Amino acid sequence: LVLILDFGSQYTHLITRRIRALNVLSLCINGTSSLKSITDLNPRVIILSGGPHSVHAPNAPCFPPGFIDYVESNKVHVLGICYGLQLIVQQLGGEVRIGEKQEYGRMDIKVTKAGGLFANKKVGDWQSVWMSHGDEAVKLPEGFEVVARSKQGAVAAVENPGKRFYGLQYHPEVTHSLEGMETLKHFLFDLCGVTAGWKMEDVLKEGLRVIESTVGPDDHVICALSGGVDSTVAATLVHKAIGERLHCVFVDNGLLRWKERERVMETFERDLHLPVTCIDAADQFLSKLKGVTEPEKKRKIIGNEFISIFDAFAHDLEQKLGKKPAYLVQGTLYPDVIESCPPPGSGRTHSHTIKSHHNVGGLPKDMKLKLIEPLKLLFKDEVRKLGKLMEVPQGFLKRHPFPGPGLAVRVPGDVTLENRLEILRKADEIFIQSIKDAGIYDSIWQAFAVFMPVLTVGVQGDQRTHSYAITLRAVTSQDGMTADWYYFDQKFLVDLSTRICNEVPGVNRVLLDITSKPPSTIEWE
Ligand code: XMP
Repeated sequence: LVLILDFGSQYTHLITRRIRALNVLSLCINGTSSLKSITDLNPRVIILSGGPHSVHAPNAPCFPPGFIDYVESNKVHVLGICYGLQLIVQQLGGEVRIGEKQEYGRMDIKVTKAGGLFANKKVGDWQSVWMSHGDEAVKLPEGFEVVARSKQGAVAAVENPGKRFYGLQYHPEVTHSLEGMETLKHFLFDLCGVTAGWKMEDVLKEGLRVIESTVGPDDHVICALSGGVDSTVAATLVHKAIGERLHCVFVDNGLLRWKERERVMETFERDLHLPVTCIDAADQFLSKLKGVTEPEKKRKIIGNEFISIFDAFAHDLEQKLGKKPAYLVQGTLYPDVIESCPPPGSGRTHSHTIKSHHNVGGLPKDMKLKLIEPLKLLFKDEVRKLGKLMEVPQGFLKRHPFPGPGLAVRVPGDVTLENRLEILRKADEIFIQSIKDAGIYDSIWQAFAVFMPVLTVGVQGDQRTHSYAITLRAVTSQDGMTADWYYFDQKFLVDLSTRICNEVPGVNRVLLDITSKPPSTIEWE
């Protein structure tokens, strides 16, 4: 196991992902975690991440007391990156000062000592790397040596092989550091003796083992399926482990896309053989949403309604089984786990404000269910690989994200007026099908239509019309936190606009949203 101690760098996830891409399991925890949480994981290698702080700042984050003794006596290899390097230098008795020249961005460094960190033959004497630091190491602790310097003469890499301590002032994990991955590979495989063997097959086996040993032979488990990738893969895994003792529920809240319910139920039942109860609660949701225009209020109503339906489902099940279900499955992913506990002083806020309403079910109030989160160590692309291994259909695994409140956030204002949802569904289906037919669905992070609650004048045939407009939104993104609008081919847009106006009654105008995030958000509400 390679453990990453996070001190708040924006690249910490990237280090974790890069190492996993080398088929080595890596985990990331808060850099100020207790010594016990580190020793419990029994890491072979520890990487100290970068971070926005100066080691001299009053509350500069640091590894826990006893850390140095622990790594030395257990022969753990340690690599400090940027802030991590400075922390090693400072904590082991060297000196870090505010640099005379700050180094940000692309920088050339020269290897001053061959061997050690730079013994990889694929790595040259001069390297182009990505720096981002103000402080610099000016005096090294005893036994340490400078092994690379920047063009300006600042320390770029240090090592003390005897103590198994290494440090890089630059970020090897970013692609701008051209030989960074080669250096990381050499560090892990040659210097630390790590072997690459972490495979999705092992994740599947281990996932099944953990579920089988956690859930007792008479225990029952419930799961709310949203129709998205995460809850589906989580449920499929649990189903493989405990079979029919898993009970899933899918709620049609009246805010789903065109034929969504039929489509996802077909995948659940025909392809995955999941035991699913489908609850038609459209009237219940829509009656609660009548007259509500404020976006957050809409979200709250929808969230509460989900919980009450899920609650009723769990109680019905209890009656049927004669005992309470013991566990609840959730499709929580690794980034959600890390982002929910940013390191103190990292400057990162809880990005959970968006994610908090992502869980469709929520916890039934008095059920006292224990959680099973079988995906909580995986990134999204890894969840897709796990799904593929369990034969979840590819088309399903590649679906764009869809928000929990569904079409309610794509009809600004009151969703229940006239046939707004119906108009939106038809326009959205034409848009999505056209994108699929053009072979560009997989290049887009998220695409959807938005209903514009304004009547505008048009001419259709010889008739003057007074109808609604539809906006098309398509974005590219890595994680939904920032996004750029997708550049469509003009002919594609012309055909699409014609089709939507011709085929969707009540629409006489089609607009394209050309705003990135920020300043906009991806959804309209
Ligand atoms: P925004 O609109 O905040 O969206 O740029 C970022 C990502 O989050 C999704 N999203 C939601 N997902 N419940 C959800 O489950 C919500 O209330 C919600 N709001 C936005 C959005 O679709 C995009 O993928």
